[in-house]
Amino acid sequence: MEPTTQSNEEERARNRIYSLINVVVALAFILSAAVLIALILRPGFFTEQPSSAIAETEPIDRDLIENGIHVRTGLIDAEGLMTVVNNCTNCHSAKLLTQNRMSADRWNETILWMQQTQNLWELGSNQEVIVNYLVTNYPPKKKGRRMILSDIEWYELED
Ligand code: HEC
Repeated sequence: MEPTTQSNEEERARNRIYSLINVVVALAFILSAAVLIALILRPGFFTEQPSSAIAETEPIDRDLIENGIHVRTGLIDAEGLMTVVNNCTNCHSAKLLTQNRMSADRWNETILWMQQTQNLWELGSNQEVIVNYLVTNYPPKKKGRRMILSDIEWYELED
């Protein structure tokens, strides 16, 4: 009877090891199936940044207007704003517009100069919209008259 008991015990131990291996294999299978399904449903599942991290690094809303100012360019929100934004802020900062206060004629000359030398495209009917926006919102600064003199001691002219 002795050898049988021993072999029974051996068999039970072997069975336990087999079932353990079965469990491990099943778990590994389930895990890889889950990974596969995740990658099929969303190819960037393991590499994509979480959406909250993307939102943090994304620039402010391109068309955001705050307190009457187009935040991205600093331009005043008025008629023609987006035409100006779309045609005049591609090559240089909008500061170049707001710092150069010119008459309509000089704006048209500047635009022509950029078209002839800087590859600025034809603006068509947008040119009028743009120039109107610029002279209305960034008018040439008036030179202003000097302050009236006061406290002057005039001397008498002798004849
Ligand atoms: C294709 C590119 C491009 C576009 C689009 C463009 N510009 Fe320019 N602009 C330039 C370049 C290049 C300069 C020279 C920049 C410099 O001197 O640093 C310039 C210079 C200027 C200047 C300064 C001129 C001077 O006398 O110093 C003004 C003002 C200006 N641009 C206004 C505008 C306006 C208004 C628009 C929209 C109609 C516009 N730009 C669109 C390329 C462009």
